[in-house]
Amino acid sequence: MNINRRIGVITALILATFLLPLGLEANEEADHKVRYRKDLMKATAAHMGTLGCYMKGKCQLPPKVLKRAAHGIALMGRLSIPAYKSPTPGATVKTTSNAKVWAEWNQFEKGLNTMVERAQALKRAAASGERGQMGPAMGMLGKTCKGCHETFRDKKK
Ligand code: HEC
Repeated sequence: MNINRRIGVITALILATFLLPLGLEANEEADHKVRYRKDLMKATAAHMGTLGCYMKGKCQLPPKVLKRAAHGIALMGRLSIPAYKSPTPGATVKTTSNAKVWAEWNQFEKGLNTMVERAQALKRAAASGERGQMGPAMGMLGKTCKGCHETFRDKKK
């Protein structure tokens, strides 16, 4: 092997050693981002579950807890804006976000802001613990979830 060829082989090996993990890291980072944005949605749904249980009369909860659940949804909405902002090409974790999230980002962000506002309205309604007052606010919030999912998520395969 002449010297130039040997240098070429060594360079290729060094590059491979460094670039391979870089490639893997890029995927790993994308995977973390997907997991995190899904976790925020799961936490949103968990808070909705608490409120839904109360609305159905299946559990008795004090206004303090109801307000906290609504507050949790508002918080998840706020955290979702930076969490969803950048696309995640190369992610290997399953995702149902579709390309419109980023192609129509302003619309998507507006949807999250609406979720925050409606969760805050629900929090105000929850102060009384009156199901009659909470019902309409809960309905509006639920529509926000459904509306966004219809546009920005692919159906489960
Ligand atoms: C502005 C858009 C938007 C709003 C509003 C929204 N979601 Fe989502 N939601 C998404 C997107 C996008 C995904 C797909 C996440 C992924 O797989 O990358 C998702 C996924 C989910 C998931 C599945 C998470 C998983 O583990 O795969 C649940 C549960 C969920 N949302 C619940 C809710 C609930 C409950 C509300 C309303 C209180 C809500 N979402 C409001 C956009 C939204």
